[in-house]
Amino acid sequence: MRIGILTSGGDCPGLNAVIRSAVLHGIKSFDDELVGIRNGWAGLIDKDYFELPRQVVRGLARTGGTILGTSRTHPYNAEGGGPKNIKRNMEEMALDALIVIGGEGTLAGAQRLYQDGINLVGVPKTIDNDLRGTDYTFGFDTALSIATDAMDRLRTTGESHHRCMVAEVMGRHVGWIALHSGLSAGAHAILIPEFPTPMEQVSEWVTQVHERGRSPLVVVAEGFIPEGHTDPVAEAGVEASGRPRLGGIGEWVTHQIEDLTGIETRNTVLGHIQRGGAPTGYDRVLSTRFGMAAIDLIHRGHYGRMVSLAGTEIVDVDLDQALAGLKEVPQQRYDEAKVLFGR
Ligand code: F6P
Repeated sequence: MRIGILTSGGDCPGLNAVIRSAVLHGIKSFDDELVGIRNGWAGLIDKDYFELPRQVVRGLARTGGTILGTSRTHPYNAEGGGPKNIKRNMEEMALDALIVIGGEGTLAGAQRLYQDGINLVGVPKTIDNDLRGTDYTFGFDTALSIATDAMDRLRTTGESHHRCMVAEVMGRHVGWIALHSGLSAGAHAILIPEFPTPMEQVSEWVTQVHERGRSPLVVVAEGFIPEGHTDPVAEAGVEASGRPRLGGIGEWVTHQIEDLTGIETRNTVLGHIQRGGAPTGYDRVLSTRFGMAAIDLIHRGHYGRMVSLAGTEIVDVDLDQALAGLKEVPQQRYDEAKVLFGR
């Protein structure tokens, strides 16, 4: 078969490992031809692609980013998009099927295209780990390990100066990165989009920690909405698609803590550092297994499905199932972490 691969949406450590394993498994096990489509859906609309012989993917599992490039181009809304054009382009590129690697937005586009008759399978990707239908997405473990390392460093400088340290991490709609990195670094408060918390409560936790001679660490997810507010802080304006560019909540929380407690406080925004660089061993293995499973799905003709992790097994689910709302941090996971806040 001749199979196209595309990566779409924000990049994520492990994308190259998926591409590598799909290419190797396809060529070695099925004599497939693999084709890389540049810059997500944009490459399919513009027929911008290149062949992927095995030499091209050599050593890729340990590299960050995506050799295919990515974009946030929408397959339906972009000029030249839509199922008719995409089907025609696939015919002209002699593609039998597609492997679409992306997060919620990308997979929603893939699901529509599948319903409109395009042969494709999905691979779940996002550092935010907010996709349903899989226990974990690749990229999350790498982001977690980068954030944990950063917080360990913030703690030593914080302790030296008796300051409160605030760390703003990614997490647009859900707080998995904040929850896990906060737990692993021993944070004294974790603020996530799912649970609006009054700043008076945060200040109480900070004061308690400071009073017992420790330097408080507060982790806040970029999408956290403080109690009494309606929208996340998005100081950098909006993207071309109209989506707000999040960021700025860490600074806001820092000022609030200083005003309410009088404790000197500093803010650090981890930003895109969480998405860059080499994937962890865990993410390399998960991505490698996902890439191979995507090839198997195509050869079984199981289109409209997404590869997924269930416990330690790689399984597959309907794209519908993966797109039925975001996977939020449940109350009991937040309550469990909360036991360690403050005092
Ligand atoms: O969806 C993953 C994510 O990392 C979000 O947490 C974040 O809001 C967004 O991507 C940032 O994307 P961009 O690369 O467009 O700035």
